Amino acid sequence: MELGIRSPVHATLFHHFSNSLLFPARLTLLNTTSSSFMATHLHVSSEEFDPSPSLAIGQHDLLIVGPGILGRLVAHNWRQEYSGCQVFGQTATTNHHRELTEIGINPSLKWTKASLKFPYVIFCAPPYQSSDYLGDLRLAASCWNGEGALLFTSSSAPYDCNDNGLCHEDSPVVPTGRSPRTDVLLKAEKIVLEFGGSVLRLSGLYKVDKGAHAYWLEKGIVESRPDHILNLIHYEVRI
Ligand SMILES: NC(=O)c1ccc[n+]([C@@H]2O[C@H](COP(=O)([O-])OP(=O)(O)OC[C@H]3O[C@@H](n4cnc5c(N)ncnc54)[C@H](OP(=O)(O)O)[C@@H]3O)[C@@H](O)[C@H]2O)c1
Repeated sequence: MELGIRSPVHATLFHHFSNSLLFPARLTLLNTTSSSFMATHLHVSSEEFDPSPSLAIGQHDLLIVGPGILGRLVAHNWRQEYSGCQVFGQTATTNHHRELTEIGINPSLKWTKASLKFPYVIFCAPPYQSSDYLGDLRLAASCWNGEGALLFTSSSAPYDCNDNGLCHEDSPVVPTGRSPRTDVLLKAEKIVLEFGGSVLRLSGLYKVDKGAHAYWLEKGIVESRPDHILNLIHYEVRI
């Protein structure tokens, strides 16, 4: 949850979304990788996906590292717009593999080496489930073949804006060393840009039962200024 960032941040960031959820046709935040999306029909194996280098990867196949709420929406929209593609999902555990298979995502545990290359890779795993988030990200980035797009869903947390003032893409970021949380995100963004990918800073994702509102409602009394601006954006927003 981010406080003190006014809505123009969202307007600016999400303005660049293509109709395909999340992969920006043009993203000015940090770097740009053009992308256009095509694909058509989904192939899903009934068994756990084995990332064998011999597997044929199509030109519109998608690897989602972290197919949680956002990643599953991306998969859904991907299939709606394009058919014929395969959608793969790497997770931290096998806890949700059955669900993923049921919704058409080929699940696997995060790989220990990049044995396959994909034209489209989205890394939308949050940092809190990994002891080596940057290593995981590097591995995901090395699974990108450099064609379609590599996208990292970062957070607006690195923006050094907490005074209820205006925050925009060029606002200063939190200096390195002030917060481990922002340090890891800034390092992650740098890695993705070095690979030639794109970074999207998201802020306050929510749906009916998950998000900042749920946290604050449960908390009851909030130790913050009453007029503090809280930015939220629905997981399913499409512009
Ligand atoms: N929620 C927000 O308000 C917010 C704000 C700003 C940015 N973001 C970013 O938006 C993205 C999507 O968030 P979300 O709310 O959709 O996440 P989520 O629902 O919590 O998704 C978590 C998914 O990521 C997998 N995962 C976690 N760590 C992994 C790792 N190291 N390698 C591979 N898979 C991993 C989990 O695997 P299992 O199935 O094994 O659990 C699960 O499938 C994240 O990058 C997050 O940092 C979120």
